[in-house]
Amino acid sequence: MEIVIVPDAAAGGELIAAAIADLLTRKPDALLGVATGSTPLPIYQALAARARDTALDVTRARICQLDEYVGLPQGHPESYRSVVLREVVEPLGLTESSFMGPDGSAEDIAAACLAYDRALAEAGGVDLQLLGIGTDGHIGFNEPCSSLASRTRIKTLTQQTRVDNARFFNNLDEVPHHVITQGIGTILDARHLVLLATGEAKADAVAATVEGPLSALVPASALQLHPHATVVVDEAAASGLK
Ligand code: F6R
Repeated sequence: MEIVIVPDAAAGGELIAAAIADLLTRKPDALLGVATGSTPLPIYQALAARARDTALDVTRARICQLDEYVGLPQGHPESYRSVVLREVVEPLGLTESSFMGPDGSAEDIAAACLAYDRALAEAGGVDLQLLGIGTDGHIGFNEPCSSLASRTRIKTLTQQTRVDNARFFNNLDEVPHHVITQGIGTILDARHLVLLATGEAKADAVAATVEGPLSALVPASALQLHPHATVVVDEAAASGLK
């Protein structure tokens, strides 16, 4: 695992956007796995700026979701489909045809999960998967005690994660209880994992991920198993590292 400490979130965004630009230069139709939440926004802004202001060609890039709320209609502004379209796909000038995600409004959620894992494999696998980290060490929505071999499935959000995500909704009651998330095994299938963590609230989770034992109690520690995992942290998020 490589650890890169950057001064702030903007620098982390620039660094990771540069890595994505490099990937797209080598492989223009790369499949980029994206996370939602606040942390990756500087990456998406920096990447969109590169697509706008430089010769970088993103027109063949493909985008896939990491997770999705269950029960929100697809057009809900906080469904992760809507968020990824708004924050990633549209700013890059791409269309929905370049984009795939799990169907959180499917009648048969188990079948939708299986279909998504299959679709990722049929698309050739994820080239670079962006990850954030929860204060409890989750990646995707693999909460503590998730199987390290898990595949895409439905999960129940912890109360802590619902409280953390309530800022995107009018109140806590509106935050769904369930999500479809790529499993830890699914995430580990990606060729390159890039986790960005910023802010002091993530310091304990980052320390446990990087320096703690591999443990299902800290799902992000599964990155220790991956041959090409990069953890980018600002100084605040790095403050718990020895
Ligand atoms: C979201 C996701 C989550 C977030 C994590 C951190 O797609 O996969 O694991 O990355 O909850 O969220 P923020 O960045 O909002 O602190």
